This record gives sequence, C-alpha cells and structure tokens, in this order.
Amino acid sequence: MKLNHLVTSLFAATALLSATTVVQAAEVEVLHYWTSGGEAKSVAELKKMMEAKGISWKDFAVAGGGGENATTALKARVIAGSSPTAAQIKGPSIQEWGRENVLANIDAVAVNEKWDALLPKVVSDVMKYKGHYVAAPINVHRVNWLWINPEVLKKAGATTPTNFDEFFVAADKIKAAGLIAVAHGGQPWQDATVFESVALGVGGADFYKKALVNMDQAALTGPTMIKTFDTLGKIKTYIDKNSPGRDWNLATAMIINGQAGMQFMGDWAKGEFTAAGKVAGKDYLCVAAPGTEKAFTFNIDSLAMFKVNDPATQKAQLVLASTIMSPEFQEVFNLNKGSIPARAGVSPAKFDTCAVKSMADLDTANKAGGLVPSIAHGMAVNAAKQGAITDVIARFMNSTMSSQDAVAALAKAAKTR
Ligand code: GAL
Repeated sequence: MKLNHLVTSLFAATALLSATTVVQAAEVEVLHYWTSGGEAKSVAELKKMMEAKGISWKDFAVAGGGGENATTALKARVIAGSSPTAAQIKGPSIQEWGRENVLANIDAVAVNEKWDALLPKVVSDVMKYKGHYVAAPINVHRVNWLWINPEVLKKAGATTPTNFDEFFVAADKIKAAGLIAVAHGGQPWQDATVFESVALGVGGADFYKKALVNMDQAALTGPTMIKTFDTLGKIKTYIDKNSPGRDWNLATAMIINGQAGMQFMGDWAKGEFTAAGKVAGKDYLCVAAPGTEKAFTFNIDSLAMFKVNDPATQKAQLVLASTIMSPEFQEVFNLNKGSIPARAGVSPAKFDTCAVKSMADLDTANKAGGLVPSIAHGMAVNAAKQGAITDVIARFMNSTMSSQDAVAALAKAAKTR
C-alpha cells in the first residue's frame, strides 16, 4: 500500500474511531439544586450508577434550597435553546413545562417497566403530561416534621411536644435555659415551609385542602387562618436574630450541635443528620409537626426529561429514567436523602425509625384523607400562585404585619394566575 494511501486510510480510521467514541460515550446533563451535604451525597449515588453504565454525568448544580435559583437558571437555559437532558422539576410545574412542548415522552421505558403498577396514583399522575410519562419520581419527602435535639430538651427540662400548647411550653423552657428554641433560616421558602405545617396543625387536613389547595376564599380569610398567623407570629418570637438569609442546612446544624432545640423542616433535614453520622431516635428526634400526627404533607422530587435531538443522549435519557426507578437507586438515594422511596418493592429493612414512621404515616394518612400536597414545595398550586403566597408569608415573617392584614394579602395572592 502506497504511503500516502496508508496515511489517508489511517486518517479516515482515526476520524471514524473518534466519531464512534463520541457517540458511545453518551452523557446526561442534569440540572438540580441538591448542594447541601446530605443532598450532594444523595445525587452522587445517581451519578455513580450512571457512570457504572458507561454514561457520563454532567452536573449542573444550582445552589439555593427550595429551588428558586435553579428554576431561574433552567428557564434561561431553555430560552437559550440549550436545555439540559434532565432537570429537577416537581408537581404542577411539570404541566407548565409540558405545555411549553419541551419535555420528552419516556413511555418507552415507563410502560415497558410497568411504572403505573409500581407507583401510587398520586405519584404517577404527577409524572405524566397528557397521559404520557415525562418525568421519573425519585422519592417522597414528608414536610410536616419537627426535628429535635433530645439533649437540649433534657437540659431545659422540656418534653417532646405533640400540639402547639406543648410546643410553646417546651420553647419557653429552652429559651429559659439560654438556648435557641427554634432553629430557622430566614428565606421565603423556609418561612412557607413552617407556615404550611402550622396551617395543617391548627386547622387540620380538610382546612389545609380548602385553603391551600382549592384556594377557597372563605377558608383563606376565616378564623382558622387568622389563628394560623397568630401561631406563626408566636413562633417568630423563638427564632434567633441571626436567622435572616440563613440556609436551611445551617439551621439543621444548630440542632445537630445543640445550639438550638427544634426545627420545622421537611425530611431532607434528615439527610444532614445522616451525613453527620447522627442516629435517629438517639442523637435527634423526628416527630410530626405539632398537631399534624395524622397528616402527611408530601413533596415528590422528580427529574423531568427534556427533548434532545442526539440519539445517543435520547438512549442515555431512558437509561437515566430506568435507573431512577430501580429499587437499588430508590434505596440508596433515599437512605442518604432522608426521604422514602416513591415506588413499591423497596425493602424497608435498611431504613431508620424516621423513614419507617414516614412510610407508615403516609399509608395511614392516605387512607384517612390526611395526605396533602406541600404548597411551599410546589406540589399544590402553579408556580405563580405559590410565589405570590410565599411572598406574603415572608413579608409577615419579616415585619410587624398583623394576622388580619396577612390573611387579606394571602386571599389576594391566591387569586394570582
Ligand atoms: C425541596 C426539594 C428537596 C430539598 C429541599 C431543600 O424543594 O424537593 O429535595 O432539596 O427543597 O433544598
């Protein structure tokens, strides 16, 4: 073979080789907001699993609990025509993105793997747009928890509260002992997280559904909502002055290190306790937020799949969806994250007492009509309404606004389209 012929065929071979290598080493880019210690450890498990399947993971993590910054970044990416392969989008927002015609139909894997049979309807419905799966469910978080440092309770001579009267007795004792009664991060989504648990504790699941799901004006402006804001206003007085802007996981750290006694937060907080090597029931307590024992506020994380053109990435996207729904992933992710598996068929054996309680309470609440969607975490209403309502609550938390003015503002915000 003449030299130049050899050279040309060598070139051709290398070009072909690199082209095939590019196609084979498919990649998924995932936009999410899991950046705290426990959150990062959890999502790293998915990355590990994907890489074990020969698919590389491009991480697009956007800091900011609750996900507001991530949603802003995602909007900019989609408008710029560079959607990620998948993004952390939840609840009614999946319908809003679906209407933008940017989400990919993943029925190829969801139907083949019989997701409808593996998922409770409350979960599978959320993952579909116009009857087709466009997202994969990662977990079920419970939001109506109170996290407690038992050592702080002991020091203060206080006991674990089950209702608000007991809560304020415990808070007074913790304060009298020179410690911080309520660890809180002064950010709107965290304020809304406390608010929704208080509304549930004060009014019950039916009131919650009427006011914070159906936006019923009478419920939004009635005496129970006034009492909710009165109670929230009282809780404010037990929060330390350094809380404005504090990240949620730093508030959890105050419980972990014994600076504070109690925190209202969803069970992503448990991911921080786990990451710190703390043992449920011993180093910390997880109890239903006051008055909400029989209810369960759900927040379901999911990765929505975006339309992509490249066939290799399309294939990788289906592998991502299938991996998310695998029992192995559902177990390891949720052990780290603090939530419970979204799908059936995952053994509870490795889960701690808080997770086992969450699984049991989910079942009880589901049967008793006590299962309600988290409004603070985008499971109850569309993003515009959620944002307007969250703003009112944040204003209330950061001002001397009266409960009467708060309910009037809330009723107005509930009319946001
Ligand atoms: C929620 C999200 C959780 C957790 C939390 C704090 O909205 O669903 O997975 O990350 O925010 O960032």
